[in-house]
Amino acid sequence: MDRWKTIIEPFRIHSVEPIQLKTVEQRDAALREAGWNLFAIHADDVIVDLLTDSGTGAMSRDQWAGIQRGDESYAGSPSWYAFLGSVQALFPFGHVIPTHQGRAAEKILFATIAGPGMAVPNNTHFDTTRANVEYTGAEAVDLVIPEGRIPAANHPFKGNMDIAALESFLTERGAANIPAVFVTITNNSGGGQPVSLANLHAVREVCDRFAVPLFLDACRFAENAWFIHEREDGQSGRSIPDIVREMASLADGMTMSAKKDGLANIGGWLAVNDDALAERCRNLLILTEGFPTYGGLAGRDLEAIAQGLREVVDEDYLRYRIRSTAYLGDALEACGIPTVRPVGGHAVYIDARALLPHIPPLEYPGQALAVALYREGGIRGCEIGTVMFGLHTDGTETPAAMDLVRLAIPRRTYTQSHIDYVIEVVRWVAEQGGDLPGYRIVEQPRALRHFTARFQPLD
Ligand SMILES: Cc1ncc(COP(=O)(O)O)c(C=O)c1O
Repeated sequence: MDRWKTIIEPFRIHSVEPIQLKTVEQRDAALREAGWNLFAIHADDVIVDLLTDSGTGAMSRDQWAGIQRGDESYAGSPSWYAFLGSVQALFPFGHVIPTHQGRAAEKILFATIAGPGMAVPNNTHFDTTRANVEYTGAEAVDLVIPEGRIPAANHPFKGNMDIAALESFLTERGAANIPAVFVTITNNSGGGQPVSLANLHAVREVCDRFAVPLFLDACRFAENAWFIHEREDGQSGRSIPDIVREMASLADGMTMSAKKDGLANIGGWLAVNDDALAERCRNLLILTEGFPTYGGLAGRDLEAIAQGLREVVDEDYLRYRIRSTAYLGDALEACGIPTVRPVGGHAVYIDARALLPHIPPLEYPGQALAVALYREGGIRGCEIGTVMFGLHTDGTETPAAMDLVRLAIPRRTYTQSHIDYVIEVVRWVAEQGGDLPGYRIVEQPRALRHFTARFQPLD
């Protein structure tokens, strides 16, 4: 298929879900009611929903068949063993602890290993990871390479950890205060950018020297492995599962949201090698999620994930997935819209700060752009910037490193004509950019404010 330029979806559509094509006036009313927060909009009022790629993908025929097969025995269900087998085929950690989604794995792990006075470095913490670290009283520190903080900087592995910064950080803080080093693959908050195998090896070497465990936040492990296959010297001849197993072999454990590269609508897990740590985590799991052979999941969900993990490492799927994301990013870049380059795996990130220079970061240019895309074309994206990361635990607010709007592409859900429509709307909104207002926040919670804050446009 490499002979042809057109990206075809490597599947046929076998059941369809209608989209309601509402008007700008209807969306204006919806925005007012939602306090201009796109998380509060009814999904029926959205035309193309790019809010997240998390749990929003279409499942395959074989996953639905797995759902029918799901065995709901409380303990030791065959569906648990199907799940365990699929997870360990890619991530051969000694202990796999199923959870209802990724943040539950984070909560259990950090509640067990972190606390006041400690710090957890990461290339870039995702919002739930940061919040779960901070909830224990520990500090969440981002140490991505400098290129990873510059939207326009081109680098094949822009999600890499800054190895020198990691070494100095461990030296300064002392290994005893660092319960784990994390690497997020791909780096969602930094633009869905991959981490190279060479960088993972270098992080491992530093962790070994300081005797600190290394964990992967592996939500998009297959997309990361595809980038390694495509971009890293000497990797193109290897199979994707082989690359994934090498990534896993460098870590002491992982947290995972199966709503991404598990190709499932719900689910996650925590995996570790350390027996004593596993026991402490399982005890907490029983308290908050459920028995260790189902975690927070039904047997049918375990089956959907087991099958999803087999499908996500398929090269035809990954080629289509990464090329179709690049199709959107390259089209926006070609019409002069600033985006995070190179295009990441699961999403295209528009640099709202560069596109709307008349809106200062504390008036939320990302929010302004996301609201405008929704109002004009019914496209729901997600602000990843000062709204999401600007508020600190002491109540102060500073601009985030970047103000981005993420257009995350649900897996196997939209066709190329949906994406052509998105390109047309984004172009139109970008042309009117100078007229867009900034926003102020009129109501917000103390943590993860982007989910529930209410906004008001500034005149
Ligand atoms: C990198 C990363 N880590 C963790 C999570 C949390 O996973 P979940 O939404 O399943 O709780 C996400 C979800 O978007 C993510 O992208």
